[in-house]
Amino acid sequence: MKILVTGGAGFIGSHLVRQLMDAGDEAISLDNLSTGLRENLPKEARLEVMDIHDDRVEDLFRREHFDGVVHLAGQTLVSSSIEDPKNDMFQNIDGTVRILECCRKYGVPRVIFSSSAAVYGDVEEKDLPITEDHSAEPLSFYGLTKLTVEKYLALYHRIFGIHYMALRFANVYGERQGDGGEGGVISIFAKRLAEGKDITIFGDGKQTRDFVYAGDIARGIRKALTTENCDTCCNLSTETETSLNDLTATFSTITGTPVTPKYGPAREGDIYRSSLSNRKAKDLLDWKPEVPLEEGLKRTYEYFRK
Ligand SMILES: NC(=O)c1ccc[n+]([C@@H]2O[C@H](COP(=O)([O-])OP(=O)(O)OC[C@H]3O[C@@H](n4cnc5c(N)ncnc54)[C@H](O)[C@@H]3O)[C@@H](O)[C@H]2O)c1
Repeated sequence: MKILVTGGAGFIGSHLVRQLMDAGDEAISLDNLSTGLRENLPKEARLEVMDIHDDRVEDLFRREHFDGVVHLAGQTLVSSSIEDPKNDMFQNIDGTVRILECCRKYGVPRVIFSSSAAVYGDVEEKDLPITEDHSAEPLSFYGLTKLTVEKYLALYHRIFGIHYMALRFANVYGERQGDGGEGGVISIFAKRLAEGKDITIFGDGKQTRDFVYAGDIARGIRKALTTENCDTCCNLSTETETSLNDLTATFSTITGTPVTPKYGPAREGDIYRSSLSNRKAKDLLDWKPEVPLEEGLKRTYEYFRK
């Protein structure tokens, strides 16, 4: 298969491109390198440095005849979406519709989209782990643009027959994750510990997240590229809650030195517990996460140490 990966030089993109190449597929990355890096990709990987809004994107589609598009490029920060909703809308909605228009014009049969747990908004603890049929009431413009794109995909399928899968990722972590902005808590902790610095937990440390390894996410995306059970949304998650205190304890095991975090005031607006059901992914994609947290943390820590 010949696959276009927008945002291919980013964190998740770089895991996906490696897997596609290893499987013998042709992966072409399109990335403006705003947060992504050329060095994130293997030397032999093909990278087109351009913005998703660039007119040259259409030429690329005309020339290449893609069998599928994995659309990962976009504005990825909840906080930036609150500070500048217009830019969030431009990057995540306008940018995506441009890619979808190219798919329509040049006959791309399938699009896989990186949606997010942010589409769900505030969820009562009794509703954990969250299933895909839970109501979606985003609390940020980021969550809203992800949900809006899901609805565009459903209509592009209905009107133009383009197949799609909107994958709602939980908290993804692994090698090559940026630690700038809000980068995942794991990449921030791993980098600081690798540099011999201390770490701070905001709140009591009992807050939980559903941490899923980027290589597992990439495998889920690859399954979504070929499954017949498409044209829907689907969580990709571990369905396991890990507290930040547990995370710190696992880092102690990995580094071989006790990690004693500092504690700061809880951050306003942070959800306390989070976990997404992965039953639908098991049923539709025959996917389940394979990399245990300790192994994924070890790989992430080693990456930052080097
Ligand atoms: N990391 C997570 O935990 C997580 C969770 C849910 C959803 N997602 C989504 O997954 C996708 C990938 O996220 P990531 O964590 O790999 O982030 P990332 O910042 O590492 O990757 C995004 C990539 O897109 C590129 N990009 C951004 N705007 C672009 C534009 N206008 N034109 C071309 N390229 C552009 C960046 O340079 C970067 O390489 C994003 O859509 C994000 O919203 C990530």
